[in-house]
Amino acid sequence: MNLDAALLAIDRACKGAVIRDRDVLETYAGDESEVEPVVPDAAVRARSTADVAAVLRACSEHGVPVTPRAGGTGRVGGAVPVRGGIVLATETMDQVLGVERADLNVVVQPGVVLGDLHRTVEEENLFYPPDPNSWASCRIGGNIACNAGGPRAFKYGVTRNWVLGLRAVTADGTILQVGKPTAKGVTGYDLAGLVVGSEGTLAVVTEARLRLTPKPEAVATLLVFLKDERAMEGVVTAALGRRLVPRCLEMLDRLALEIVKPQAGLDVPEGAHAMLLVELDGDRDVLQAQVEDCGMAMLEAGAVDVLVAKNESERERLWAARRELSYTMRRQAKNKLSEDVVVPRTRLGELVERCRALQDQHGIRMPSYGHAGDGNLHVNFLWDEPDERPRVDAAIRALFESVVAMGGTLSGEHGIGVLKAPYLGLEQSDALIDVQRRIKDVFDPKGILNPGKIFPRGHRAC
Ligand code: LAC
Ligand code: ZN
Repeated sequence: MNLDAALLAIDRACKGAVIRDRDVLETYAGDESEVEPVVPDAAVRARSTADVAAVLRACSEHGVPVTPRAGGTGRVGGAVPVRGGIVLATETMDQVLGVERADLNVVVQPGVVLGDLHRTVEEENLFYPPDPNSWASCRIGGNIACNAGGPRAFKYGVTRNWVLGLRAVTADGTILQVGKPTAKGVTGYDLAGLVVGSEGTLAVVTEARLRLTPKPEAVATLLVFLKDERAMEGVVTAALGRRLVPRCLEMLDRLALEIVKPQAGLDVPEGAHAMLLVELDGDRDVLQAQVEDCGMAMLEAGAVDVLVAKNESERERLWAARRELSYTMRRQAKNKLSEDVVVPRTRLGELVERCRALQDQHGIRMPSYGHAGDGNLHVNFLWDEPDERPRVDAAIRALFESVVAMGGTLSGEHGIGVLKAPYLGLEQSDALIDVQRRIKDVFDPKGILNPGKIFPRGHRAC
């Protein structure tokens, strides 16, 4: 790589955007995963699509790795510049460019913080549903890169379902408009769908047109206590049987419930060892009846108790505890690894039991929580001593093998990044990985864009 030549060209094209100051570069070294931070050689704070294109053009020409970054809240090391080179920061492109009210769209730059987007559209009684729990700090560019999900995905789907069109810059600096500005459109391949979830390995998104929907008039939150995790399937199926589609069905297993109890001020009834946080939304005049219907259905299906949050502050207290869970877990031990697996919804209880068996077998604490409606479980591995690490790795591999055997997948919303790349082959065939590598070559023939991510080492150099 010829870093100096690339930086000279970038400096000429993007005056004042290049950063070499070590203190600042350190803030671009890591993300919210357990991947070891790597300080990049330089960073560029892009202010426009033209800046992004100039950076990529120069880096392509001079063989310099580029790691795109938005909020840096990823969970698998996707924004860690593992091969050095340049971090291309898009946090400075943070404008909501326009709410297209009548068309139910919004046009945003990648650096918009998700929580700000929510607020902006909700002020106009519109709604952008994807809600990863990091919404207060994650940015839309990262959401698009990872196809972020969140609690509301059960009813509303994930980021990809809300992306209409993207302005995206490929590794050599070519600016493409992918997807459609319209509600429908089927000309050509769905490249917007491909770029969403490609973890910054195919292109850098500089603008997105997102779909919106009218904001639901009212929301109600229920706490559903269960005797164990196996009871989950029955209560969820019972609600669906009443034609109710809760927007969230968040679950806590026995260990996670113990951990969150004091923080949320939860009064857990006798005999309850798992919990669902259920949320319904809709028109105020029908919601009350739906809440009662949902509660009854769940009690009839074996729930130990169902409580309804009385007011907004009670709702907020429950959700604050849920949002904090991942950080609360981190405080439970010197080390934590968090996984993000998915099985068919009806097998989630079975998966939690499998985790319990792995915990006993390997002697590692493994509390889990997640998005029960989607069968998406965040399994945490907590340990204190370095010599326990091989047991953690054995438990993780066994978990992944079980998930695949149950017809599941290795990631529901966090992506593959660095952490899961070694395991991709457990789920995907060599032929499938090879097709994806060839797609990568089309977008990035020199392999400069977010190298070292997704694909296992040895599966052709990347
Ligand atoms: C959550 C994040 C970890 O659901 O995905 O809390
Ligand atoms: Zn999650």
